[in-house]
Amino acid sequence: MSDQQRKILVTSALPYANGSIHIGHLVEYIQTDIWVRFQKMQGHECYYVCADDAHGTPIMLRAQKEEITPEALIARISEEHQADFKEFSVAFDNFHSTHSDENQWLANTIYESLDNKGHINKRTIKQLYDPEKEMFLPDRFIRGECPKCGTADQYGDSCESCGATYSPTDLKNPVSAVSGATPIERESEHYFFKLGDFEDMLHKWTRAGHLQTEVTNKLDEWFEAGLQEWDISRDAPYFGFEIPNAPGKYFYVWLDAPMGYLASFKNLCDKSELNFDEWCQAGSDTEMYHFIGKDIIYFHALFWPAMLEGSGFRTPTAIFAHGFLTVDGQKMSKSRGTFITARTYLNHLNPEYLRYYFAAKLGSGVDDIDLNLEDFTARVNSDLVGKVVNIASRCAGFISKRFDGKLSKNIHDQTLLKSMVDANKTIANAYEAREYSKAMREVMSLADKANQYIDDHKPWIIAKEEGRDEELQAVCSMGINCFRLLILYLKPVLPVLATRTETFLNIAPLQWQDAGSALIDHDINKFKPLMTRVEKEHIDAMVEDSKEDLTANATEQVVARGPLADNPIADEITIDDFMKVDLRIAKIIKAEHVEGADKLLQLTLDLGGETRNVFAGIKSAYSPEDLEGKLTVMVANLAPRKMRFGLSEGMVLAAGAGGKDLFILSPDSGAEPGMKVK
Ligand code: MSP
Ligand code: ZN
Repeated sequence: MSDQQRKILVTSALPYANGSIHIGHLVEYIQTDIWVRFQKMQGHECYYVCADDAHGTPIMLRAQKEEITPEALIARISEEHQADFKEFSVAFDNFHSTHSDENQWLANTIYESLDNKGHINKRTIKQLYDPEKEMFLPDRFIRGECPKCGTADQYGDSCESCGATYSPTDLKNPVSAVSGATPIERESEHYFFKLGDFEDMLHKWTRAGHLQTEVTNKLDEWFEAGLQEWDISRDAPYFGFEIPNAPGKYFYVWLDAPMGYLASFKNLCDKSELNFDEWCQAGSDTEMYHFIGKDIIYFHALFWPAMLEGSGFRTPTAIFAHGFLTVDGQKMSKSRGTFITARTYLNHLNPEYLRYYFAAKLGSGVDDIDLNLEDFTARVNSDLVGKVVNIASRCAGFISKRFDGKLSKNIHDQTLLKSMVDANKTIANAYEAREYSKAMREVMSLADKANQYIDDHKPWIIAKEEGRDEELQAVCSMGINCFRLLILYLKPVLPVLATRTETFLNIAPLQWQDAGSALIDHDINKFKPLMTRVEKEHIDAMVEDSKEDLTANATEQVVARGPLADNPIADEITIDDFMKVDLRIAKIIKAEHVEGADKLLQLTLDLGGETRNVFAGIKSAYSPEDLEGKLTVMVANLAPRKMRFGLSEGMVLAAGAGGKDLFILSPDSGAEPGMKVK
C-alpha cells in the first residue's frame, strides 16, 4: 500500500569465514530477511546483500592448520554458509566475499582518497612478536598473567577474572598462543586513520536520526573519551589486501570488512542493470541500511561513516543494532548443548519455527533476546499450529468435499473481514519499525477473532443439517479468507508456509496490496497439512547433538595454538576437590560403532567385577578393533548421562585437540581393572 516506490539497499553483518553459522547469528540474518521481504512485498525496489568476512589472522592460521590455502578455506566455508542461509530462507540478492576484486578496488579507492586528503598517519609502534612463528601477535593470540590481579592465562587485551583492560605488553610472563614461544617486543611502522578529523561530522551524524537512541547514548561515552586514531595496518604474514605503496603492510580486516557491503552490491550491479554510482556515491537519494549486532557498533557508527564521508561515498541512512541471543536465560554454551549451529538445528527442526519465534521476540531495540526452549515449543504449537493453520484445516475439508473446491460468491461477515483488512496498516507500520513482536501479536489477535467466528458458526454442525449448504459454504469460505489474510501478514516471517498456502489457495504470490481483495467464487486445491507441531523429542535430540559436537569439533574451534594455550590450566583446586573424582583402571572388553553417531564409539568397560556402558567421542581417532582388550582410565563416579543412543555411565580419559589428534590414557603394565588411580 505504498504510495511511492523506494530504492533500498540492506545488509547484514558479514559472518567470519572461519566458523559455522549458529543460532545467535541467525537472530540477525532472520531479522534482516524479514524486513527485506516486507519491503519487497510492499513493491519497493530492495536489495539484500552480504558476504563472508574472509580476512585476518584467525583465518590465516586455521588454513595453515588444515594445510590448505586460505582461498580454499574461504571457498569451502562460503558454500557451507550459503547452504545454511538458503535453508533458513535468508534470501540474499547477492552473497560475495571481502576477498574479491570489487573489495580490493574499494579498499584502495577509499584508502587513497583518505590518504590524499591527509587523513592517514604513519607511526612506529611496539608490539609483541612471536620469534618462532615469525609474526606479530594479535592481542587475542597472547596469553599471560593479568598485570593487575595476577590471574594466569589471560588474553592480551583484558582479564576475565578482574575485568582489567590493558595492552599486551603489560602482561606478565606472556606466551604466544600460536607457538608457545615467549614473545619479544618489536617495532614496526603502522598506518592510522585519523578519526578525530571527523569529530564534528560524526557528532552531528550520530544525532541526526541514523541511530537508535540507546546507541547514540552509548556513543556519547566514546566521544567523551575522545576519538582515537585507528590502527588500520597489519604486518605480513597476514591474509588480506596489501596496502598500496606499502610492501609487507596489509589492511587490517576491519578496514575492508564494511567495504564488503558495497563490494557485494557492486558485484550485483556488474551482473545486472543496476548502477553502482547512483546508489553509492555521495548525494544518492537511495536508502542504505545496515543490520548489526550491538558488539560491532563502534565500527559501524564511527569508523564506517567517517571513511565513507572522507572518500566521497554516501553514508548509511540508518544502522539498526540488535541484542544478543541467550538460550534458556544464559549465554550459549557448548557444554549445556545450547551452542546450536544452523546445521544441527536443521537436522532436527523446521527453520520456520525459529523464524517465527525470533519474530515474536524481536523489537526495535538493542535488548538481548532469549530463546527459551520450552516457550519455543509452546509458542509455535499454540500460535502457528493451533491458531493459524487450524483455521484452514477446520474449513478446507467441507469446501473440497461438498463444494468441489469452490468458495462462495459472497462474504459472510463483511464487518469481520473489514476489520481484518484494516489491520494491515498497523501491521505494516510495525514491520517497518522492526517491531516484529508487535506485528506478531496483532496477527495472533486476528487469528483469535477468526477462530471465534468459526466457533460461533460451527460448520461441523451446519454440515449435518439439511438445506444449509449455502450457509456452510459461506462460513467456510469466510474462514478461508481470514486464513489467507493471516498468511499474507505472516509472509515476511514464514515464506515457506506462505508458498504452500498460495499453492493450496491456487493464487499468485501474495503482495501486501492484496490485503484489499478477497477470494470470491474461486477454486481452491485440496488441503494438505501445512505445518506440524514441534515435538519435545526433537528439541532434546538437537540439544544432545550440540553437546556431541563439542568433543568432535574441538579441533575446528581452536585456531593453531600450543596445547597449553588451547586449554588453559583450570583454577586451582584442593586435594579434597580432587579426591571427589574417582578415577579407576578399566578394561575395554567391547568397542562398537554407534548407529547414527559420527563421533561416538560405544565401549563396554570392565571395572573389576562391574561392567559399564560408556559412549566416548573418540571415533575420529580409533577403530573399535584398536581398543578391545586395552586398559584405560575412567571417571567411575560421574553421574550417568542420558544420551540419544542410551545411558553413558562414566567417561574415559583422553588427551588432544580432537579429530585424529586424540589419545586415550593407558596405564603401565601391571595395572588391573578396578584399581583406584591416585
Ligand atoms: N565479521 C564481523 C562483522 C563484519 S561486518 C562489516 C563479525 N562477524 S561475526 O560472525 O562474529 O558476527 C556476525 C554478526 O552476528 C554480528 O552482527 C554479530 O553481532 C552477530 N552475532 C554473533 N553472535 C550473536 C549472538 N549470540 N546473538 C546475536 N547476534 C550475534 O562480527
Ligand atoms: Zn586480572
